[in-house]
Amino acid sequence: MDHFLYRDGALFAEDVAIAEIAAAVGTPFYVYSTATLLRHFRAFDEALEGMDHLVCYAMKANSNQAVLKTLAQAGAGMDVVSGGEYRRARAAGVPGDRIVFSGVGKTRDEIRLALEGGIRQFNVESEPEMIILDAIAQELGVVAPITVRVNPDVDAKTHAKIATGKSENKFGIPIARAREVYAMAATMKGLDVIGIDVHIGSQLTDLTPYEQAYQKVAELTQTLRDDGHTITRLDLGGGLGIPYERSNADPPLPSDYGAMVKRTLGHLDCEIEIEPGRLIAGNAGLMVSEVIYVKSGEGRDFLIIDGAMNDLIRPAMYDAHHDIIPVIEPAAGIEPQPIDIVGPVCESGDTFAKQRLMPPLAAGDLVAFRSAGAYGAVMASEYNSRPLIPEVLVKDDQFAVIRARPTFDEMINRDTIPEWL
Ligand code: LLP
Repeated sequence: MDHFLYRDGALFAEDVAIAEIAAAVGTPFYVYSTATLLRHFRAFDEALEGMDHLVCYAMKANSNQAVLKTLAQAGAGMDVVSGGEYRRARAAGVPGDRIVFSGVGKTRDEIRLALEGGIRQFNVESEPEMIILDAIAQELGVVAPITVRVNPDVDAKTHAKIATGKSENKFGIPIARAREVYAMAATMKGLDVIGIDVHIGSQLTDLTPYEQAYQKVAELTQTLRDDGHTITRLDLGGGLGIPYERSNADPPLPSDYGAMVKRTLGHLDCEIEIEPGRLIAGNAGLMVSEVIYVKSGEGRDFLIIDGAMNDLIRPAMYDAHHDIIPVIEPAAGIEPQPIDIVGPVCESGDTFAKQRLMPPLAAGDLVAFRSAGAYGAVMASEYNSRPLIPEVLVKDDQFAVIRARPTFDEMINRDTIPEWL
């Protein structure tokens, strides 16, 4: 459930009319609902009740500091994957001991930054990373808490570009080699091995692959304990999917996921960490866009809108479906017609939907893309010299611009001309 509903025929974000925001900030823009963000965070937090746990929001999904602060104030930790994300989380007031550092390619500078600034743990993904981390920790005179990310070789049954738990993927170390890697880590004075990390992919709509992976983690926990390691924390990754298509989807709920975690791992008496991104932010956001033209083509019509693939890349990149709804609710009995919904960018890939059933729309009308709160604004670019679109946060009847649209001058003046020109 989210807080984007029609009231008297007009779409609202909580208690604010979308049309009012559009009039204030112009289109296109992203808008997020505080109540929905908190609702989704709490759903996870409550699903793990009874187990020592921390929900570390995967901030790659939406890293606006206002979003981070909203979640951090509710008790969330953060999962970061770059020095930029670490800095952003700290700037939003998240203490180091609630930040987990994931990712296959942490640089020396990023490692140093986190060790100096404070970190809950590094999720280490390879032996070379382990060696560098150990060396830097010793150089700084600190001990780095780590888990090792294991690759359980399970098929997450999701889009190939966002599956991470098969042996062919670049992530983690093969679970079959875990014992030797943990043995190596135990000899390193700069490291404190505290647990195991696993993440198998994103937009998972079935709990079976999770259960397979977590069973392997449970077995590995026993094996490593028998080998003499102290395993007290399990980081179970993120990835629980959301219903992108309201009409036909029913993915498992955080409560189902939590019950499965308790069933497979509860007996190990470990602290549980999870890293959800999409499920917290995805359905807490819309991208709102205005119709520029309605164009009749050969056998099909096109709704040309002012949002484009550079603003929301998911349909072009993953063939992703986003529900698109008019901001003015269609009157009862209006027959929807199929239409292609496209942006102004000069690529055929700038197509959001083909032959989507929509009520009749005209230039100037507003449409809203649902499920755009995760992997929307964060993946945007200025392709075609289109400035990044603003982000707005709603709370009850208030709204605030949380990232302003840059001016054309700001965008253009970021280039510098060498003196020989
Ligand atoms: N933890 C790790 C180590 C991850 O790599 C990811 C996502 C997450 C947590 C959060 O996964 P989530 O709960 O959001 O599914 N841009 C793609 C999604 C990429 C996900 C990458 N890793 C998309 O728009 O679908």
